[in-house]
Amino acid sequence: MFPIDLKSDTITRPGAEMRRAMCEAEVGDDVYGEDPTVRRLEKMGAELLGQEAALYVTSGTQGNLVSLLTHCNRGDGVLVGQEAHMLQYEGGGLAALGGAVPIPMNDEKGLPDIADLERVMKPKGNVHFAYPRLLCLENTHNRAGGHASTPEEISERATWAHDRGLFVHLDGARLFNATVALGVKAADMVKDVDSIQICLSKGLGAPMGSLICASGDFIERARYWRKKVGGGLRQAGIVAAAGIYAFEHNVTRLAEDHENARSMKEILRKGGLRVGDVRRPTNMVYFGTPDEQSADRLLEACRRRQVIFNKTAPDTFRLVTHLNVSREQAIQAAEIIAEEFQNRQ
Ligand SMILES: Cc1ncc(COP(=O)(O)O)c(C=O)c1O
Repeated sequence: MFPIDLKSDTITRPGAEMRRAMCEAEVGDDVYGEDPTVRRLEKMGAELLGQEAALYVTSGTQGNLVSLLTHCNRGDGVLVGQEAHMLQYEGGGLAALGGAVPIPMNDEKGLPDIADLERVMKPKGNVHFAYPRLLCLENTHNRAGGHASTPEEISERATWAHDRGLFVHLDGARLFNATVALGVKAADMVKDVDSIQICLSKGLGAPMGSLICASGDFIERARYWRKKVGGGLRQAGIVAAAGIYAFEHNVTRLAEDHENARSMKEILRKGGLRVGDVRRPTNMVYFGTPDEQSADRLLEACRRRQVIFNKTAPDTFRLVTHLNVSREQAIQAAEIIAEEFQNRQ
């Protein structure tokens, strides 16, 4: 069935059962703390991640921003990957709205090495530098090809940060892709970080929403910041119900997306395309052509055949598998891409 849209896992549409859950949701005014469905979703999220509490926010971007605002004062230094979503794709909100000074670090493999962290860390007690307050990590890591980091790798960075008096925030927009790929518990993945943002609107398939999960005290303070940035919603149970449905039905199935991405890689490789190597892959496929011209021709030819994906660099593309792309569609799309590439050489 066409089109086959692989530009992102954010494009998933709620199916009939999810819509029914939304339709039947019990609601109240969530700014007054009176929406039972939002409360249930927050409780589920907190329990899944082994945290004391959670806060429903409108988007991943808002979840990352509200977490940063809760951790930092204006002018504080934030260690953040130079490839991180928080730095690359959130409109510079961390600086524009949070007043944070980004201290970029090398995260091209997903997480910075401890040596990279040491290199960029600023001394405390020296007024020349922005006061280092927060370390931000991302798992899975989008620009590192959807790479999944392990709980041990996360904990090692978190311990390094805590030993130096930094807080740790994890952008876990696709945390469950990582936990499903590695066969580990979400709570183990985040046990040593101070705040986590998870998206319900990516592979989990809800139309909107994210959760910030953390200690009870942190979530109470984050609730003030959510209101200040306009994220206090009223009868939000309508959309929170989709998040509950997603937790109940769409977590373990992420393994299918990973398997589809793996098969697509194989077909593209056999077809002569350059496929990025990712040590622990999930639902993303980064691939490229020898030069910019052949990339443009390929993109155009595939669009004409209704296979849709995004360009991430002049000669590089990204495909993302998700619950609205069946196994047959994934295979068919990869075969079309490989065929068009060969036709146009
Ligand atoms: C790693 C990562 N973090 C955060 C976000 C932001 O989520 P949202 O689009 O809901 O603001 C995204 C969105 O794609 C993402 O990929």
